[in-house]
Amino acid sequence: MNINPATVPEAFLTLSADELNDRIREVKAKLGKRLLILGHHYMTDEVIAHADERGDSFALAKIAAQTDAGFIVFCGVHFMAETADIVTTATQKVFIPDPGAGCFLADCARIRDVEDAWQEIKSITLQSIIPITYVNSGADMKAFCGDNGGLVCTSSNAAAALKWAFERGEKVIFFPDQHLGRNTAFAMGIPLEEIILWNTDEPLGGNAPAAVQRARVILWDGFCIVHQEFNVDYIEKLRQNDPQINIIVHPECDFDVAQAADYMGSTAYIIKMIEEAPAGSHWAVATERNLVNRLKSAYPEKRIEILQSFEPYCKSMAQITLTNLFYQLDQLDSGNLINQIVVEEQYAESARTALNRMLELTQ
Ligand code: 13P
Ligand code: SF4
Repeated sequence: MNINPATVPEAFLTLSADELNDRIREVKAKLGKRLLILGHHYMTDEVIAHADERGDSFALAKIAAQTDAGFIVFCGVHFMAETADIVTTATQKVFIPDPGAGCFLADCARIRDVEDAWQEIKSITLQSIIPITYVNSGADMKAFCGDNGGLVCTSSNAAAALKWAFERGEKVIFFPDQHLGRNTAFAMGIPLEEIILWNTDEPLGGNAPAAVQRARVILWDGFCIVHQEFNVDYIEKLRQNDPQINIIVHPECDFDVAQAADYMGSTAYIIKMIEEAPAGSHWAVATERNLVNRLKSAYPEKRIEILQSFEPYCKSMAQITLTNLFYQLDQLDSGNLINQIVVEEQYAESARTALNRMLELTQ
């Protein structure tokens, strides 16, 4: 990982939103097709307005793998920019307006702990184990999966990734999001008794050897703080007030929340379901507020609300602002390649293997 963080100078901090918008448009026009701005759905309205392409992490990874643009500016979090760097060619350059925009969930899996757990599991079973890492993870984790016959997945293709893995092995170890792993495996028919949680602080992850032997899915103990804000009590309250309400949740939510919901799926799935819903239908959505509020504005003929009394939001995604986006573009225009994301050579190739296995999945 090569981070070259740049401090936004004072002169940029005092520009108004109108000035920033005008100047971003000017630089974009000047750089033309050499530049591609990618925006994740969790970006604020003002930032996403400048994205050439918007999408969830899977869609943006695919677009990055296909573009010819020399400069890719990623409005999202660090692991997404890393993914873009891995799937692009050596001459294409990927930037993020704030390289400090990390991801709490991605940080839950540290490679040293993962390697220790892998050795421990291997020491007590001869069964074949396929590692899967959610795209919300570092390049070192993706490389680990690539090197050990595994792959990457996103929330859009976790089921396809599990199916791929079970065609090749007897067990899966799923990093770092326990909820995506559990919700997806259970929805595919794997009973909870065959899904165990691995707690890094305890020998054998806190499991009896027989439980590890029996498990078909071993879950890493990671979670997303934003998606932990949704709960079953609130769902019950909404249902009491409106029995017609549709509850739709992202698979990073807790198992009990997913079970209490009517629908569960990726960001792309949530968008599609609401897009296709009839006028007058009522939806409560458990995911990041910027996406929910945008759906609300896009479909005023439907009643859409967030599944909480407050608006959970991702602080890391919010680190990308109109100001640092403009500074990023302005510097690129001057030939000053700040905030470039370069995945370390030792990880790039193996991580690419794991990502390519995902990109080749048919969903
Ligand atoms: P998607 O894979 O749905 O884009 O989600 C990424 C993410 O960070 C969700 O919290
Ligand atoms: Fe990471 Fe959660 Fe933010 Fe997504 S919403 S980027 S998983 S912290």
